[in-house]
Amino acid sequence: MAKKEKYGYTHLSAGELLRDERKNPDSQYGELIEKYIKDGKIVPVEITISLLKREMDQTMAANAQKNKFLIDGFPRNQDNLQGWNKTMDGKAEVSFVLFFDCNNEICIERCLERGKSSGRSDDNRESLEKRIQTYLQSTKPIIDLYEEMGKVKKIDASKSVDEVFDEVVKIFDKEG
Ligand code: C5P
Ligand code: MG
Repeated sequence: MAKKEKYGYTHLSAGELLRDERKNPDSQYGELIEKYIKDGKIVPVEITISLLKREMDQTMAANAQKNKFLIDGFPRNQDNLQGWNKTMDGKAEVSFVLFFDCNNEICIERCLERGKSSGRSDDNRESLEKRIQTYLQSTKPIIDLYEEMGKVKKIDASKSVDEVFDEVVKIFDKEG
């Protein structure tokens, strides 16, 4: 059984939701999203939070007990964080943040490998270098903020998939 099932979480990936929205021919945001993703920049939060909130609301409307979410790739910058606080104030509690820590070179290598089959427009060296810059400038400070609140659970993600998974399981057994 997948852990998210065991612990009753619904997994939502901000990047995945944005990629789906980009594919939706009825969306007015498709082009903008593509441009941001290719440039490794963070899409304005109004778009991302509305996608996340819609998924959360739909999940809970279908089953009121499904009110625990594992949100992947969010918040990625100050704008994301402000949008979350504004929209979720009094509605959601952040229990903890999983930080998959891994050095740049390994991340780039893994994404280039993934790029052989992912079809993602940002799995190329140029976009990846930009993503690293965005991470250092905009995302790392957000992780630091959560760190100050004592909410960060750090995992050494340079290890193998199985080892990383075991670390995650330990955290969920304790916290989830
Ligand atoms: O997390 P993932 O690798 O799927 O993110 C891919 C891209 O999606 C990011 O580099 C960024 O352009 C966009 N994204 C975003 N805001 C988020 C998550 C992802 O703009 N919160
Ligand atoms: Mg992601």
